[in-house]
Amino acid sequence: MNTASREDRVTIPDLHARKGGVPVVCLTAYTTPMAKLLDPYVDLLLVGDSLGMVLYGMASTIGVSLDMMIAHGAAVVRGATRACVIVDMPFGSYQESPAAAFRNTARVMKETGAAGVKLEGGAEMAETVAFLVDRGIPVMGHVGLTPQSVHSLGGFRARGKSEVEAERIIAGAEAIAQAGAFAIVVEGTLEPVARELARRVPTPIIGIGASPACDGQILVTEDLVGLFSDFTPKFVKRYASTGDQIRKAVAAYAEDVRQRRFPGPEHCFGVKGEK
Ligand code: KIV
Repeated sequence: MNTASREDRVTIPDLHARKGGVPVVCLTAYTTPMAKLLDPYVDLLLVGDSLGMVLYGMASTIGVSLDMMIAHGAAVVRGATRACVIVDMPFGSYQESPAAAFRNTARVMKETGAAGVKLEGGAEMAETVAFLVDRGIPVMGHVGLTPQSVHSLGGFRARGKSEVEAERIIAGAEAIAQAGAFAIVVEGTLEPVARELARRVPTPIIGIGASPACDGQILVTEDLVGLFSDFTPKFVKRYASTGDQIRKAVAAYAEDVRQRRFPGPEHCFGVKGEK
């Protein structure tokens, strides 16, 4: 576990103080090398349970286990020296009761070295959030399109379309903020609803498919760099086509191997003139 702490490490109070200030830059990371690449540029690295779909080819995040989140959480902490690392709590690890949530979040904190956890849900999770925060576990909320509820929501569709639903999402964020969440993700929610939520809730609101009026933004890194192409949500802006570069590199390697152009003498041991 990376226990090294640096003076300039972004802390939970730093993030909480960013309401209405310079937008908080957040990205997902699941591995040490990716964390090392992203760390200098972001304030927060989220070890999202989206890893179930992005890395493991699952159809949803529901099958992700606590052990998977702990293994990837520890890997990201090992690669990050500056960003605040937050680990997603997987489905089934926190909904049962505040005590079960404490047991599992404490395990995540101890075994990964992360600074906090994220869990999905609105008003129904407020009691659990307060229970965790009171016992020293920093919690990030997640409202709007909550992927662990994909079946009850009827798919990955934008939320907040009816007035009742919009009000429930905003009230849920207010309850989670009141319970002590240091920040809240709002995902896949109509722009005017997310804007109103960010205006009303006194905690930093991090948007994904939400609104530029949020206090920060997050994307799944593999979407941003073009490494995940099973589907691309409307809210993703692709900044690179890394998948194309990998395909080209691998095709060139395959051709070199077939033509005996690789390895060259410089890649071999004990060849005259080479070390
Ligand atoms: O699991 C995840 O990656 C997330 C972000 C998309 C917010 O929850």
